Amino acid sequence: MKALILVGGFGTRLRPLTLTLPKPLVEFGNRPMILHQIEALAAAGVTDIVLAVNYRPEIMTAALKKYEKEYGINITFSVETEPLGTAGPLKLAEKTLGNGDEPFFVLNSDVICDFPFEQLVEFHRSHGNEGTIVVTKVEEPSKYGVVVHKPDSASRIDRFVEKPVEFVGNRINAGIYILNPSVLKRIELRPTSIEQETFPAIVKDGQLHSFDLDGFWMDVGQPKDFLSGTCLYLSSLTKKNSKLLTSNSEPYVYGGNVMIDPSATIGKNCKIGPNVTIGPNVVIGDGVRLQRCVLLQGSKVKEHAWIKSTIVGWNSTVGRWARLENVSVLGDDVTIGDEVYCNGASVLPHKSIKANVETPAIIM
Ligand code: GDD
Ligand code: MG
Repeated sequence: MKALILVGGFGTRLRPLTLTLPKPLVEFGNRPMILHQIEALAAAGVTDIVLAVNYRPEIMTAALKKYEKEYGINITFSVETEPLGTAGPLKLAEKTLGNGDEPFFVLNSDVICDFPFEQLVEFHRSHGNEGTIVVTKVEEPSKYGVVVHKPDSASRIDRFVEKPVEFVGNRINAGIYILNPSVLKRIELRPTSIEQETFPAIVKDGQLHSFDLDGFWMDVGQPKDFLSGTCLYLSSLTKKNSKLLTSNSEPYVYGGNVMIDPSATIGKNCKIGPNVTIGPNVVIGDGVRLQRCVLLQGSKVKEHAWIKSTIVGWNSTVGRWARLENVSVLGDDVTIGDEVYCNGASVLPHKSIKANVETPAIIM
């Protein structure tokens, strides 16, 4: 089978991290976000993956080509000269996706869950219509595309409303689809939205169904959700007794859901967890307290720092007795001085912070 992953977009909501790397390459659970999807697709028998890119394609190519061999798949890059939105890229890749009559998967690159690809194909084949979209329930549906069903059907969609202003329901588009090649005929080669144009057209013909997702789901395209998604992902690994997690018997692990790369070093008397990921070559000094946070590759946390609900970018340094909280995000190579307090600080790459950031602010 084939799949297309929508990896375009500038990822502005995940700045300052996306000033350094395209969003799909930012590490989630210590691996590039998109690798979670590639791995799940390969496990479900997908052999050809098209990455629809419009922003810095050379970085994506360099980073992802090497996974072809590892997962036994072909990865091709479909590069847009102007952003084609969420439907245009499917048309651009028509030669690949429309080759044969098998349905293909489409994914937003920033969603994380236990990808149910095998059950999805089975369900899609069973109803025999043009498309199936995976849906999940959320409390705040206005940030997403919302699905309303026909009164007489549990799966046939009656309305698809992208980012509704008024409440229409709480079952939302999880950004994972399986579509028949016939859908490609409905799309023109121009910037166009699958949510605003293609889905409503398929719905009108009664050809779009929904498939309910089991378990956790999160769009991790903004810092607050990236942190919440990390908690959900780590909890799901705990439930599965995954070896990816650091053992709770380590003296510094507190409350579980902790993932530490083996190359990281941890000082004496630290208290780490719950819900923490620590990337390769990170150095943690003595007496450090970490909870609900993500430390990316090469970062350094000096003695007695206290970090909560924060993403520490690659190669950044947090000073002694510093205190970071409330969705602070440090870009690449940031330095936070000793004893400095950051409350919701979003710090651009290569900055050095010497004074407290008392209220949420972007530091440039
Ligand atoms: N190739 C390409 N070209 N990809 C694009 C473009 C483009 O011009 N614009 C956006 N994308 C990619 C993004 O990188 C992302 O993977 C995906 O398309 C969706 O774009 P977002 O910007 O993340 O959309 P959203 O999060 O506001 O809403 C979408 O996702 C929700 C679920 O997370 C919609 O599909 C909603 O209906 C859905 O509920
Ligand atoms: Mg998104």
